[in-house]
Formats: sequence, C-alpha cells, structure tokens
Amino acid sequence: MSDPNGTFHQLGPAADISLGQTKNYKVDGHGLVVANCDGDYHAIEDRCTHDDGPLGEGKLWGCLIECPRHGARFDMKTGQVRALPATRPVASYPVRVVDGMLEVQLPPAEGDATAGATRGFSL
Ligand code: FES
Repeated sequence: MSDPNGTFHQLGPAADISLGQTKNYKVDGHGLVVANCDGDYHAIEDRCTHDDGPLGEGKLWGCLIECPRHGARFDMKTGQVRALPATRPVASYPVRVVDGMLEVQLPPAEGDATAGATRGFSL
C-alpha cells in the first residue's frame, strides 16, 4: 500500500553533505536543496518564492538559507520566510537517512488518483 504523503526517493550518500553545507538535487525534474544543519538534514524546493532565485546557490546561516538574488531568507526546517523580500514560504520535504543514504519524500503528483495529501510542488 502506498503512502498517501508521497514516495521516498533516494538522493545519495548522506556523507556527501558536511555539517553547514548544502547540495542540490533533481528528482523527476524538480529541483531540491538539502542542507545539513543542526546535525540533521532538511530539504526545500530550490526556487525562491520572491522571484524564482536559485536558493541552492545561496549562503547557509545556521538553518536559514539566503537567496542569492535579493537576500530573502528561508528556514530550511520548515520553508518559512525569515527575511524579506519574499513573503511566501517554499515547499519543504521530509528527509530520512537509510543505511547512510539520503531519501526525500515528495508528495504524489497532482491528479494522482491515490493522492491523499494536499501538499504539492509549485514548480
Ligand atoms: S528572488 Fe529570492 S529574494 Fe528575490
């Protein structure tokens, strides 16, 4: 039976991302940024809600990532905005480590008859 919250996708070795670092991934054409902060891994969409800036190219301040275009900051743990000019959160996704490999849970595709979640990519 499938998980109504989505499917976990393997990204790569967790050891690829050192504490205080980020790494970009593409899963089914969707861009993600994964950060290792506070000793845990967190994933958000790699697209700023202000004007589509590439968040994965931004600087990490603790668990806040700063958009390289105009300086908005987002919480890697929740996707919430922590500094203007962005006003809307970015999507955030559950991350787990299985046998040393990072896995991210992405919501079911829109229109998937088995979808039970209301979350979705806004790419
Ligand atoms: S595009 Fe990210 S702050 Fe403007």
